Formats: sequence, C-alpha cells, structure tokens
Amino acid sequence: MNLTRLVYYSQRNPSEKLDTADLIATCRRNNARLNLTGMLHYNGDHFIQVIEGGRVEVSALYHAIARDPRHSNIILLSCEDVRERIFPDWSMGLHQGMSDRTSAIFLRYFSTDVVNPEIVSVDSLLDVLQDLSAELGAS
Ligand SMILES: Cc1cc2nc3c(=O)[nH]c(=O)nc-3n(C[C@H](O)[C@H](O)[C@H](O)COP(=O)(O)O)c2cc1C
Repeated sequence: MNLTRLVYYSQRNPSEKLDTADLIATCRRNNARLNLTGMLHYNGDHFIQVIEGGRVEVSALYHAIARDPRHSNIILLSCEDVRERIFPDWSMGLHQGMSDRTSAIFLRYFSTDVVNPEIVSVDSLLDVLQDLSAELGAS
C-alpha cells in the first residue's frame, strides 16, 4: 500500500495545558498500533510535525490533531506519497527546545533559525528534523 508523508506547522495555544510527556506517550501508543511513524519538534512556541504511514491513517490522524486545542493556526506544509520512511524507527520522536545545538542544525540548512511556514522549504525542514532525530538516540 502507498506510503504518505505529511508535514505541518502549528502554534502552541498558551491557554491550554500542555504536558509533552503525556502527549508523546499518547502519540507512541496510537501511532505504533497504526504503523505510523514520524517526528515532532516543539521549540516552546510552535510545533513542526512529520507523520508517515498509510494514506487513510495519516489523513485521519491529521484531522484529529487539527482539532486539538493545545495548538492553533495549523498550516499544512506538504502531504504526498513517498517511496520510503525517513523515520522508520520512531513511532513519534520528540525533540524539544531550541538549544545552541538545535540552532546550529537549523543554520546548516537555512539562513536563519526562525522558520517562516509561508515560505519554508519542506525538503530542508525534513533534513533538519532528520538531524534532530539523530540527536535523540534510540526510540
Ligand atoms: C502537536 C500535537 C501533535 C500530536 N501528534 C499526535 C500523534 O502523532 N498521534 C496521536 O495519536 N495523537 C497526536 N496528538 C494528539 C491528538 O490530537 C489526540 O489528542 C489523540 O490522538 C487522542 O488520542 P486518544 O483518543 O488515545 O486519547 C497530537 C496533538 C498535538 C497537539
């Protein structure tokens, strides 16, 4: 069956409580069951998430996530069929924060470490997320 990869950007909703340990536990439980994989980067202000898996599962999850009040202003950056997974070992990797090391990874692929979702190159963003996932160690 086809493999689809979806990438979105959203802003944290400061009026809703966010427990990232809780969130990632839910992600991993649900995603593993559905053969979904991916990566979530949260810098304290916004999220960038990649979700990979079957077209139906990716689509259903994206619609559920889009309704989640813990974030808002969700912008779909890309959704396309792909040949293989970038994050096969992560039911959902979580990278949090914006350390000097994180900033250096963004600066490897972009001219600044501030992502503008209106113009960002998704390919470069995927390179960043792949490097960030390598910093996390094993899933
Ligand atoms: C930024 C963000 C990313 C999320 N990513 C996932 C995800 O990858 N998988 C998932 O099952 N839920 C994810 N969620 C949570 C869903 O919106 C929803 O709360 C969850 O799927 C409900 O699962 P439950 O019915 O098992 O409680 C995410 C939520 C937010 C705010």
